[in-house]
Parts: sequence; structure tokens; C-alpha cells
Amino acid sequence: MLLAIETSCDETAVCLFDEQSIERGDMRTALRYDVVSSQVALHQPYGGVVPELAAREHVRNLPVLVNEALQSVGITTADISAIGVTRGPGLKGSLLVGLCFAKSFALASNIPLIPVHHIEGHIFAGNLSDTPPIYPFLALVVSGGHTMLVLCESYRRYRLVASTRDDAAGEAFDKTATLLGLPYPGGPQLSRAAERGNASAFSFPIGVAGDSKSFSFSGLKTAVQRQVQQLGASMQEPQVRDDLAASVQSAIVQALVRKVSDACRVHSPRALLLTGGVAANALLRQSLADEAAKLGIPFAVPAARWCTDNAAMIAVLAYHQLQENREAFESWTPHAGFLGPGVSTDLGAVAKWPLPCI
Ligand code: KG4
Ligand code: ZN
Repeated sequence: MLLAIETSCDETAVCLFDEQSIERGDMRTALRYDVVSSQVALHQPYGGVVPELAAREHVRNLPVLVNEALQSVGITTADISAIGVTRGPGLKGSLLVGLCFAKSFALASNIPLIPVHHIEGHIFAGNLSDTPPIYPFLALVVSGGHTMLVLCESYRRYRLVASTRDDAAGEAFDKTATLLGLPYPGGPQLSRAAERGNASAFSFPIGVAGDSKSFSFSGLKTAVQRQVQQLGASMQEPQVRDDLAASVQSAIVQALVRKVSDACRVHSPRALLLTGGVAANALLRQSLADEAAKLGIPFAVPAARWCTDNAAMIAVLAYHQLQENREAFESWTPHAGFLGPGVSTDLGAVAKWPLPCI
């Protein structure tokens, strides 16, 4: 049984993954416990994640969740073969809580530790979709901190096709939602308001034309700000706000879809994967599914709960890392200075950690 821990931002997530019960290669059948404890209510009054509060909440939640995980599955620490934990990127304090907990747990129980990359975890969440993508595939990773188009050439071999020059797609959702006076968390709130709005009511800039390597959302933010100022008191009318939300959402989604579509034509991938928190957005899911169908490329997207931050994706990635080094893990015995094969006890959290690309 693999224990996976994710605390890179404001969600405390814990997963127990039983590799012996994987059925027909479907990773979802191995999930014995998979819980995300949200801190939305804690950060709501501040209009965004307060890093210090997030870290403190992880300190409180994590031991409780791990204990609950073991109890509900009916196992003890002796049944855990490895611990997968997010090492970065993310909020330093939040990462430190998860990492320190995992290191202590590993050290106290002589269990090997597998530190993993959060963004790579989002890519491995593709294994939790109905139709896991086949290499080489193109992955659109859209979260609160990242917007990347990655060509996944083969197992853990990545080529960066495009990334954002300024704001991430999730940030664009969150910041424009704030401009519209919508409560935190902006992305889901804006997409809910957009359901009632008319997407053609306002016209907003759609990314950067002609530059296939960059996404850009700062121009959109400025345009929304100007529009809100112009609208003045009419911003109080719910329909105006909903129309704005729908128009903003449409501009963000179109910018993403266009770039993905161009990249599909250039790289001819065998599949397209949509992943990361923004992949929970219904319009983006539908628009990319339609585009992939038009291009004749199989489309994969995990269920919304595995698009936003979760520990199941960390478990799946740790499981693959374990498989990759099976012999090293099986012959590994705890010794001074090490927490697992190649993992030194001085392992630190990495707040800024680009996805290792070739
Ligand atoms: O991957 P994630 O859970 O955390 C990070 O690693 O950043 O992504 C969070 C981001 C936030 O910006 C949030 O607003 C956005 O994903 N998000 C959405 C939706 N659900 C979450 N954006 C648009 N529509 C949604 N339904
Ligand atoms: Zn994330």
C-alpha cells in the first residue's frame, strides 16, 4: 500500500493506493482512500489563499487525515510500502508541512520516501481518466500557478511546447472574478455565473496571435478592468455581471483551445490530455473535446476531483516511480542520511521548480 500526501497549496490531500488491486490496468481501482480537505472557507474572507494560514491548517489537518485513512482502510503503518509526497512547486510553507510530515513518518517507520513533482502529478492524473492517453500525447496543464502545453513524448520525457508569458489560466479566472466582484474562489464562481450569461455580450482580447510558444492573459485582465470601470453602476445588475463572466470565460477558453489546436496540427500527438485545476471548467472540457474530435485525436480528461489538487495523482506518479526502480526499493534498507533510494534526509521543499523538460 502506497501512502500519498499533497499539500502544495490550500488543499490537504491524502490517498492510500493498493498497487496489488489494480484491475485491468485501471489505476482508479487501486484507490482505497482518497480525500481532499478543502480550506476554501478559511481563506474566503481574505479573497485568496493566505499562505501562512494554509500552512497552519495543513499542520492541523494532515495527521488527522492520515490517521483516518489508516483506520478507514483497516491497516497500520506496517502495511505501507512507500510514501509519495509533493516536494514542489507550490507555496513554500504548505509544501514544508507535507514534506516534513512525510519525512518524519518515513524515518520513524522505516518506509522509503518518494518525492514527486506537483505538475508532473497533474500529468499523471491522465491515468485516472476513462481513456488514459497514449504516448506521444499533448498535455494542456492549466492550474492556478501554471499554464503549459507539454508534449509527453514517452514515459517521463517532456518537451515544453508553450507556456504563459504572464498570468496562468487559473489566475486569469481568479483575478477577473475579483474584478467582477465575485467571491473567492474565483474560477468556479466565474464559471457558475457564466452559465447564466451571454458570451457574445462583450468582446475581449483572445491571447497572443501568431506566437505559438506563449499564452498571455494579462491583456484580458486589463480589458476587463476597463470594461468594469466603464459599466460603473450597471455592474450591480446580475445579468450584466453574468454576461461579463460568460464573455471572459469564452475569451480564456478560446485562447487555450486555439493554441492546443495549432500544436496538435504541428506535433500530431496520439492523444490530447486536459489536466490541472482549470480542467474542472465545463466549457473548456467540452470545447477541447469538440476540437479533439474534429482533429480525430482521442481526448482524455480526469473527473473534476482529479483535475484540481488531489493526492490520487501523487499516488499514481509515485507508483510509477516505484515501478521504475522496483529493485532499488525492494533491496533498500534504511541507513543513516537516507530516507529512500537516492533520497537524502536533507531533502527540502522547492517552491519554484520548473517541470524537467528535454
Ligand atoms: O491545480 P489547482 O487545484 O491548484 C494549483 O496547483 O494551482 O488549480 C486551482 C485553479 C484556481 O485558479 C481555480 O480558480 C481554478 O483552478 N479552477 C477553475 C475551476 N475550478 C478550479 N477555473 C475555472 N473553472 C472552474 N470550474
Ligand atoms: Zn495543482
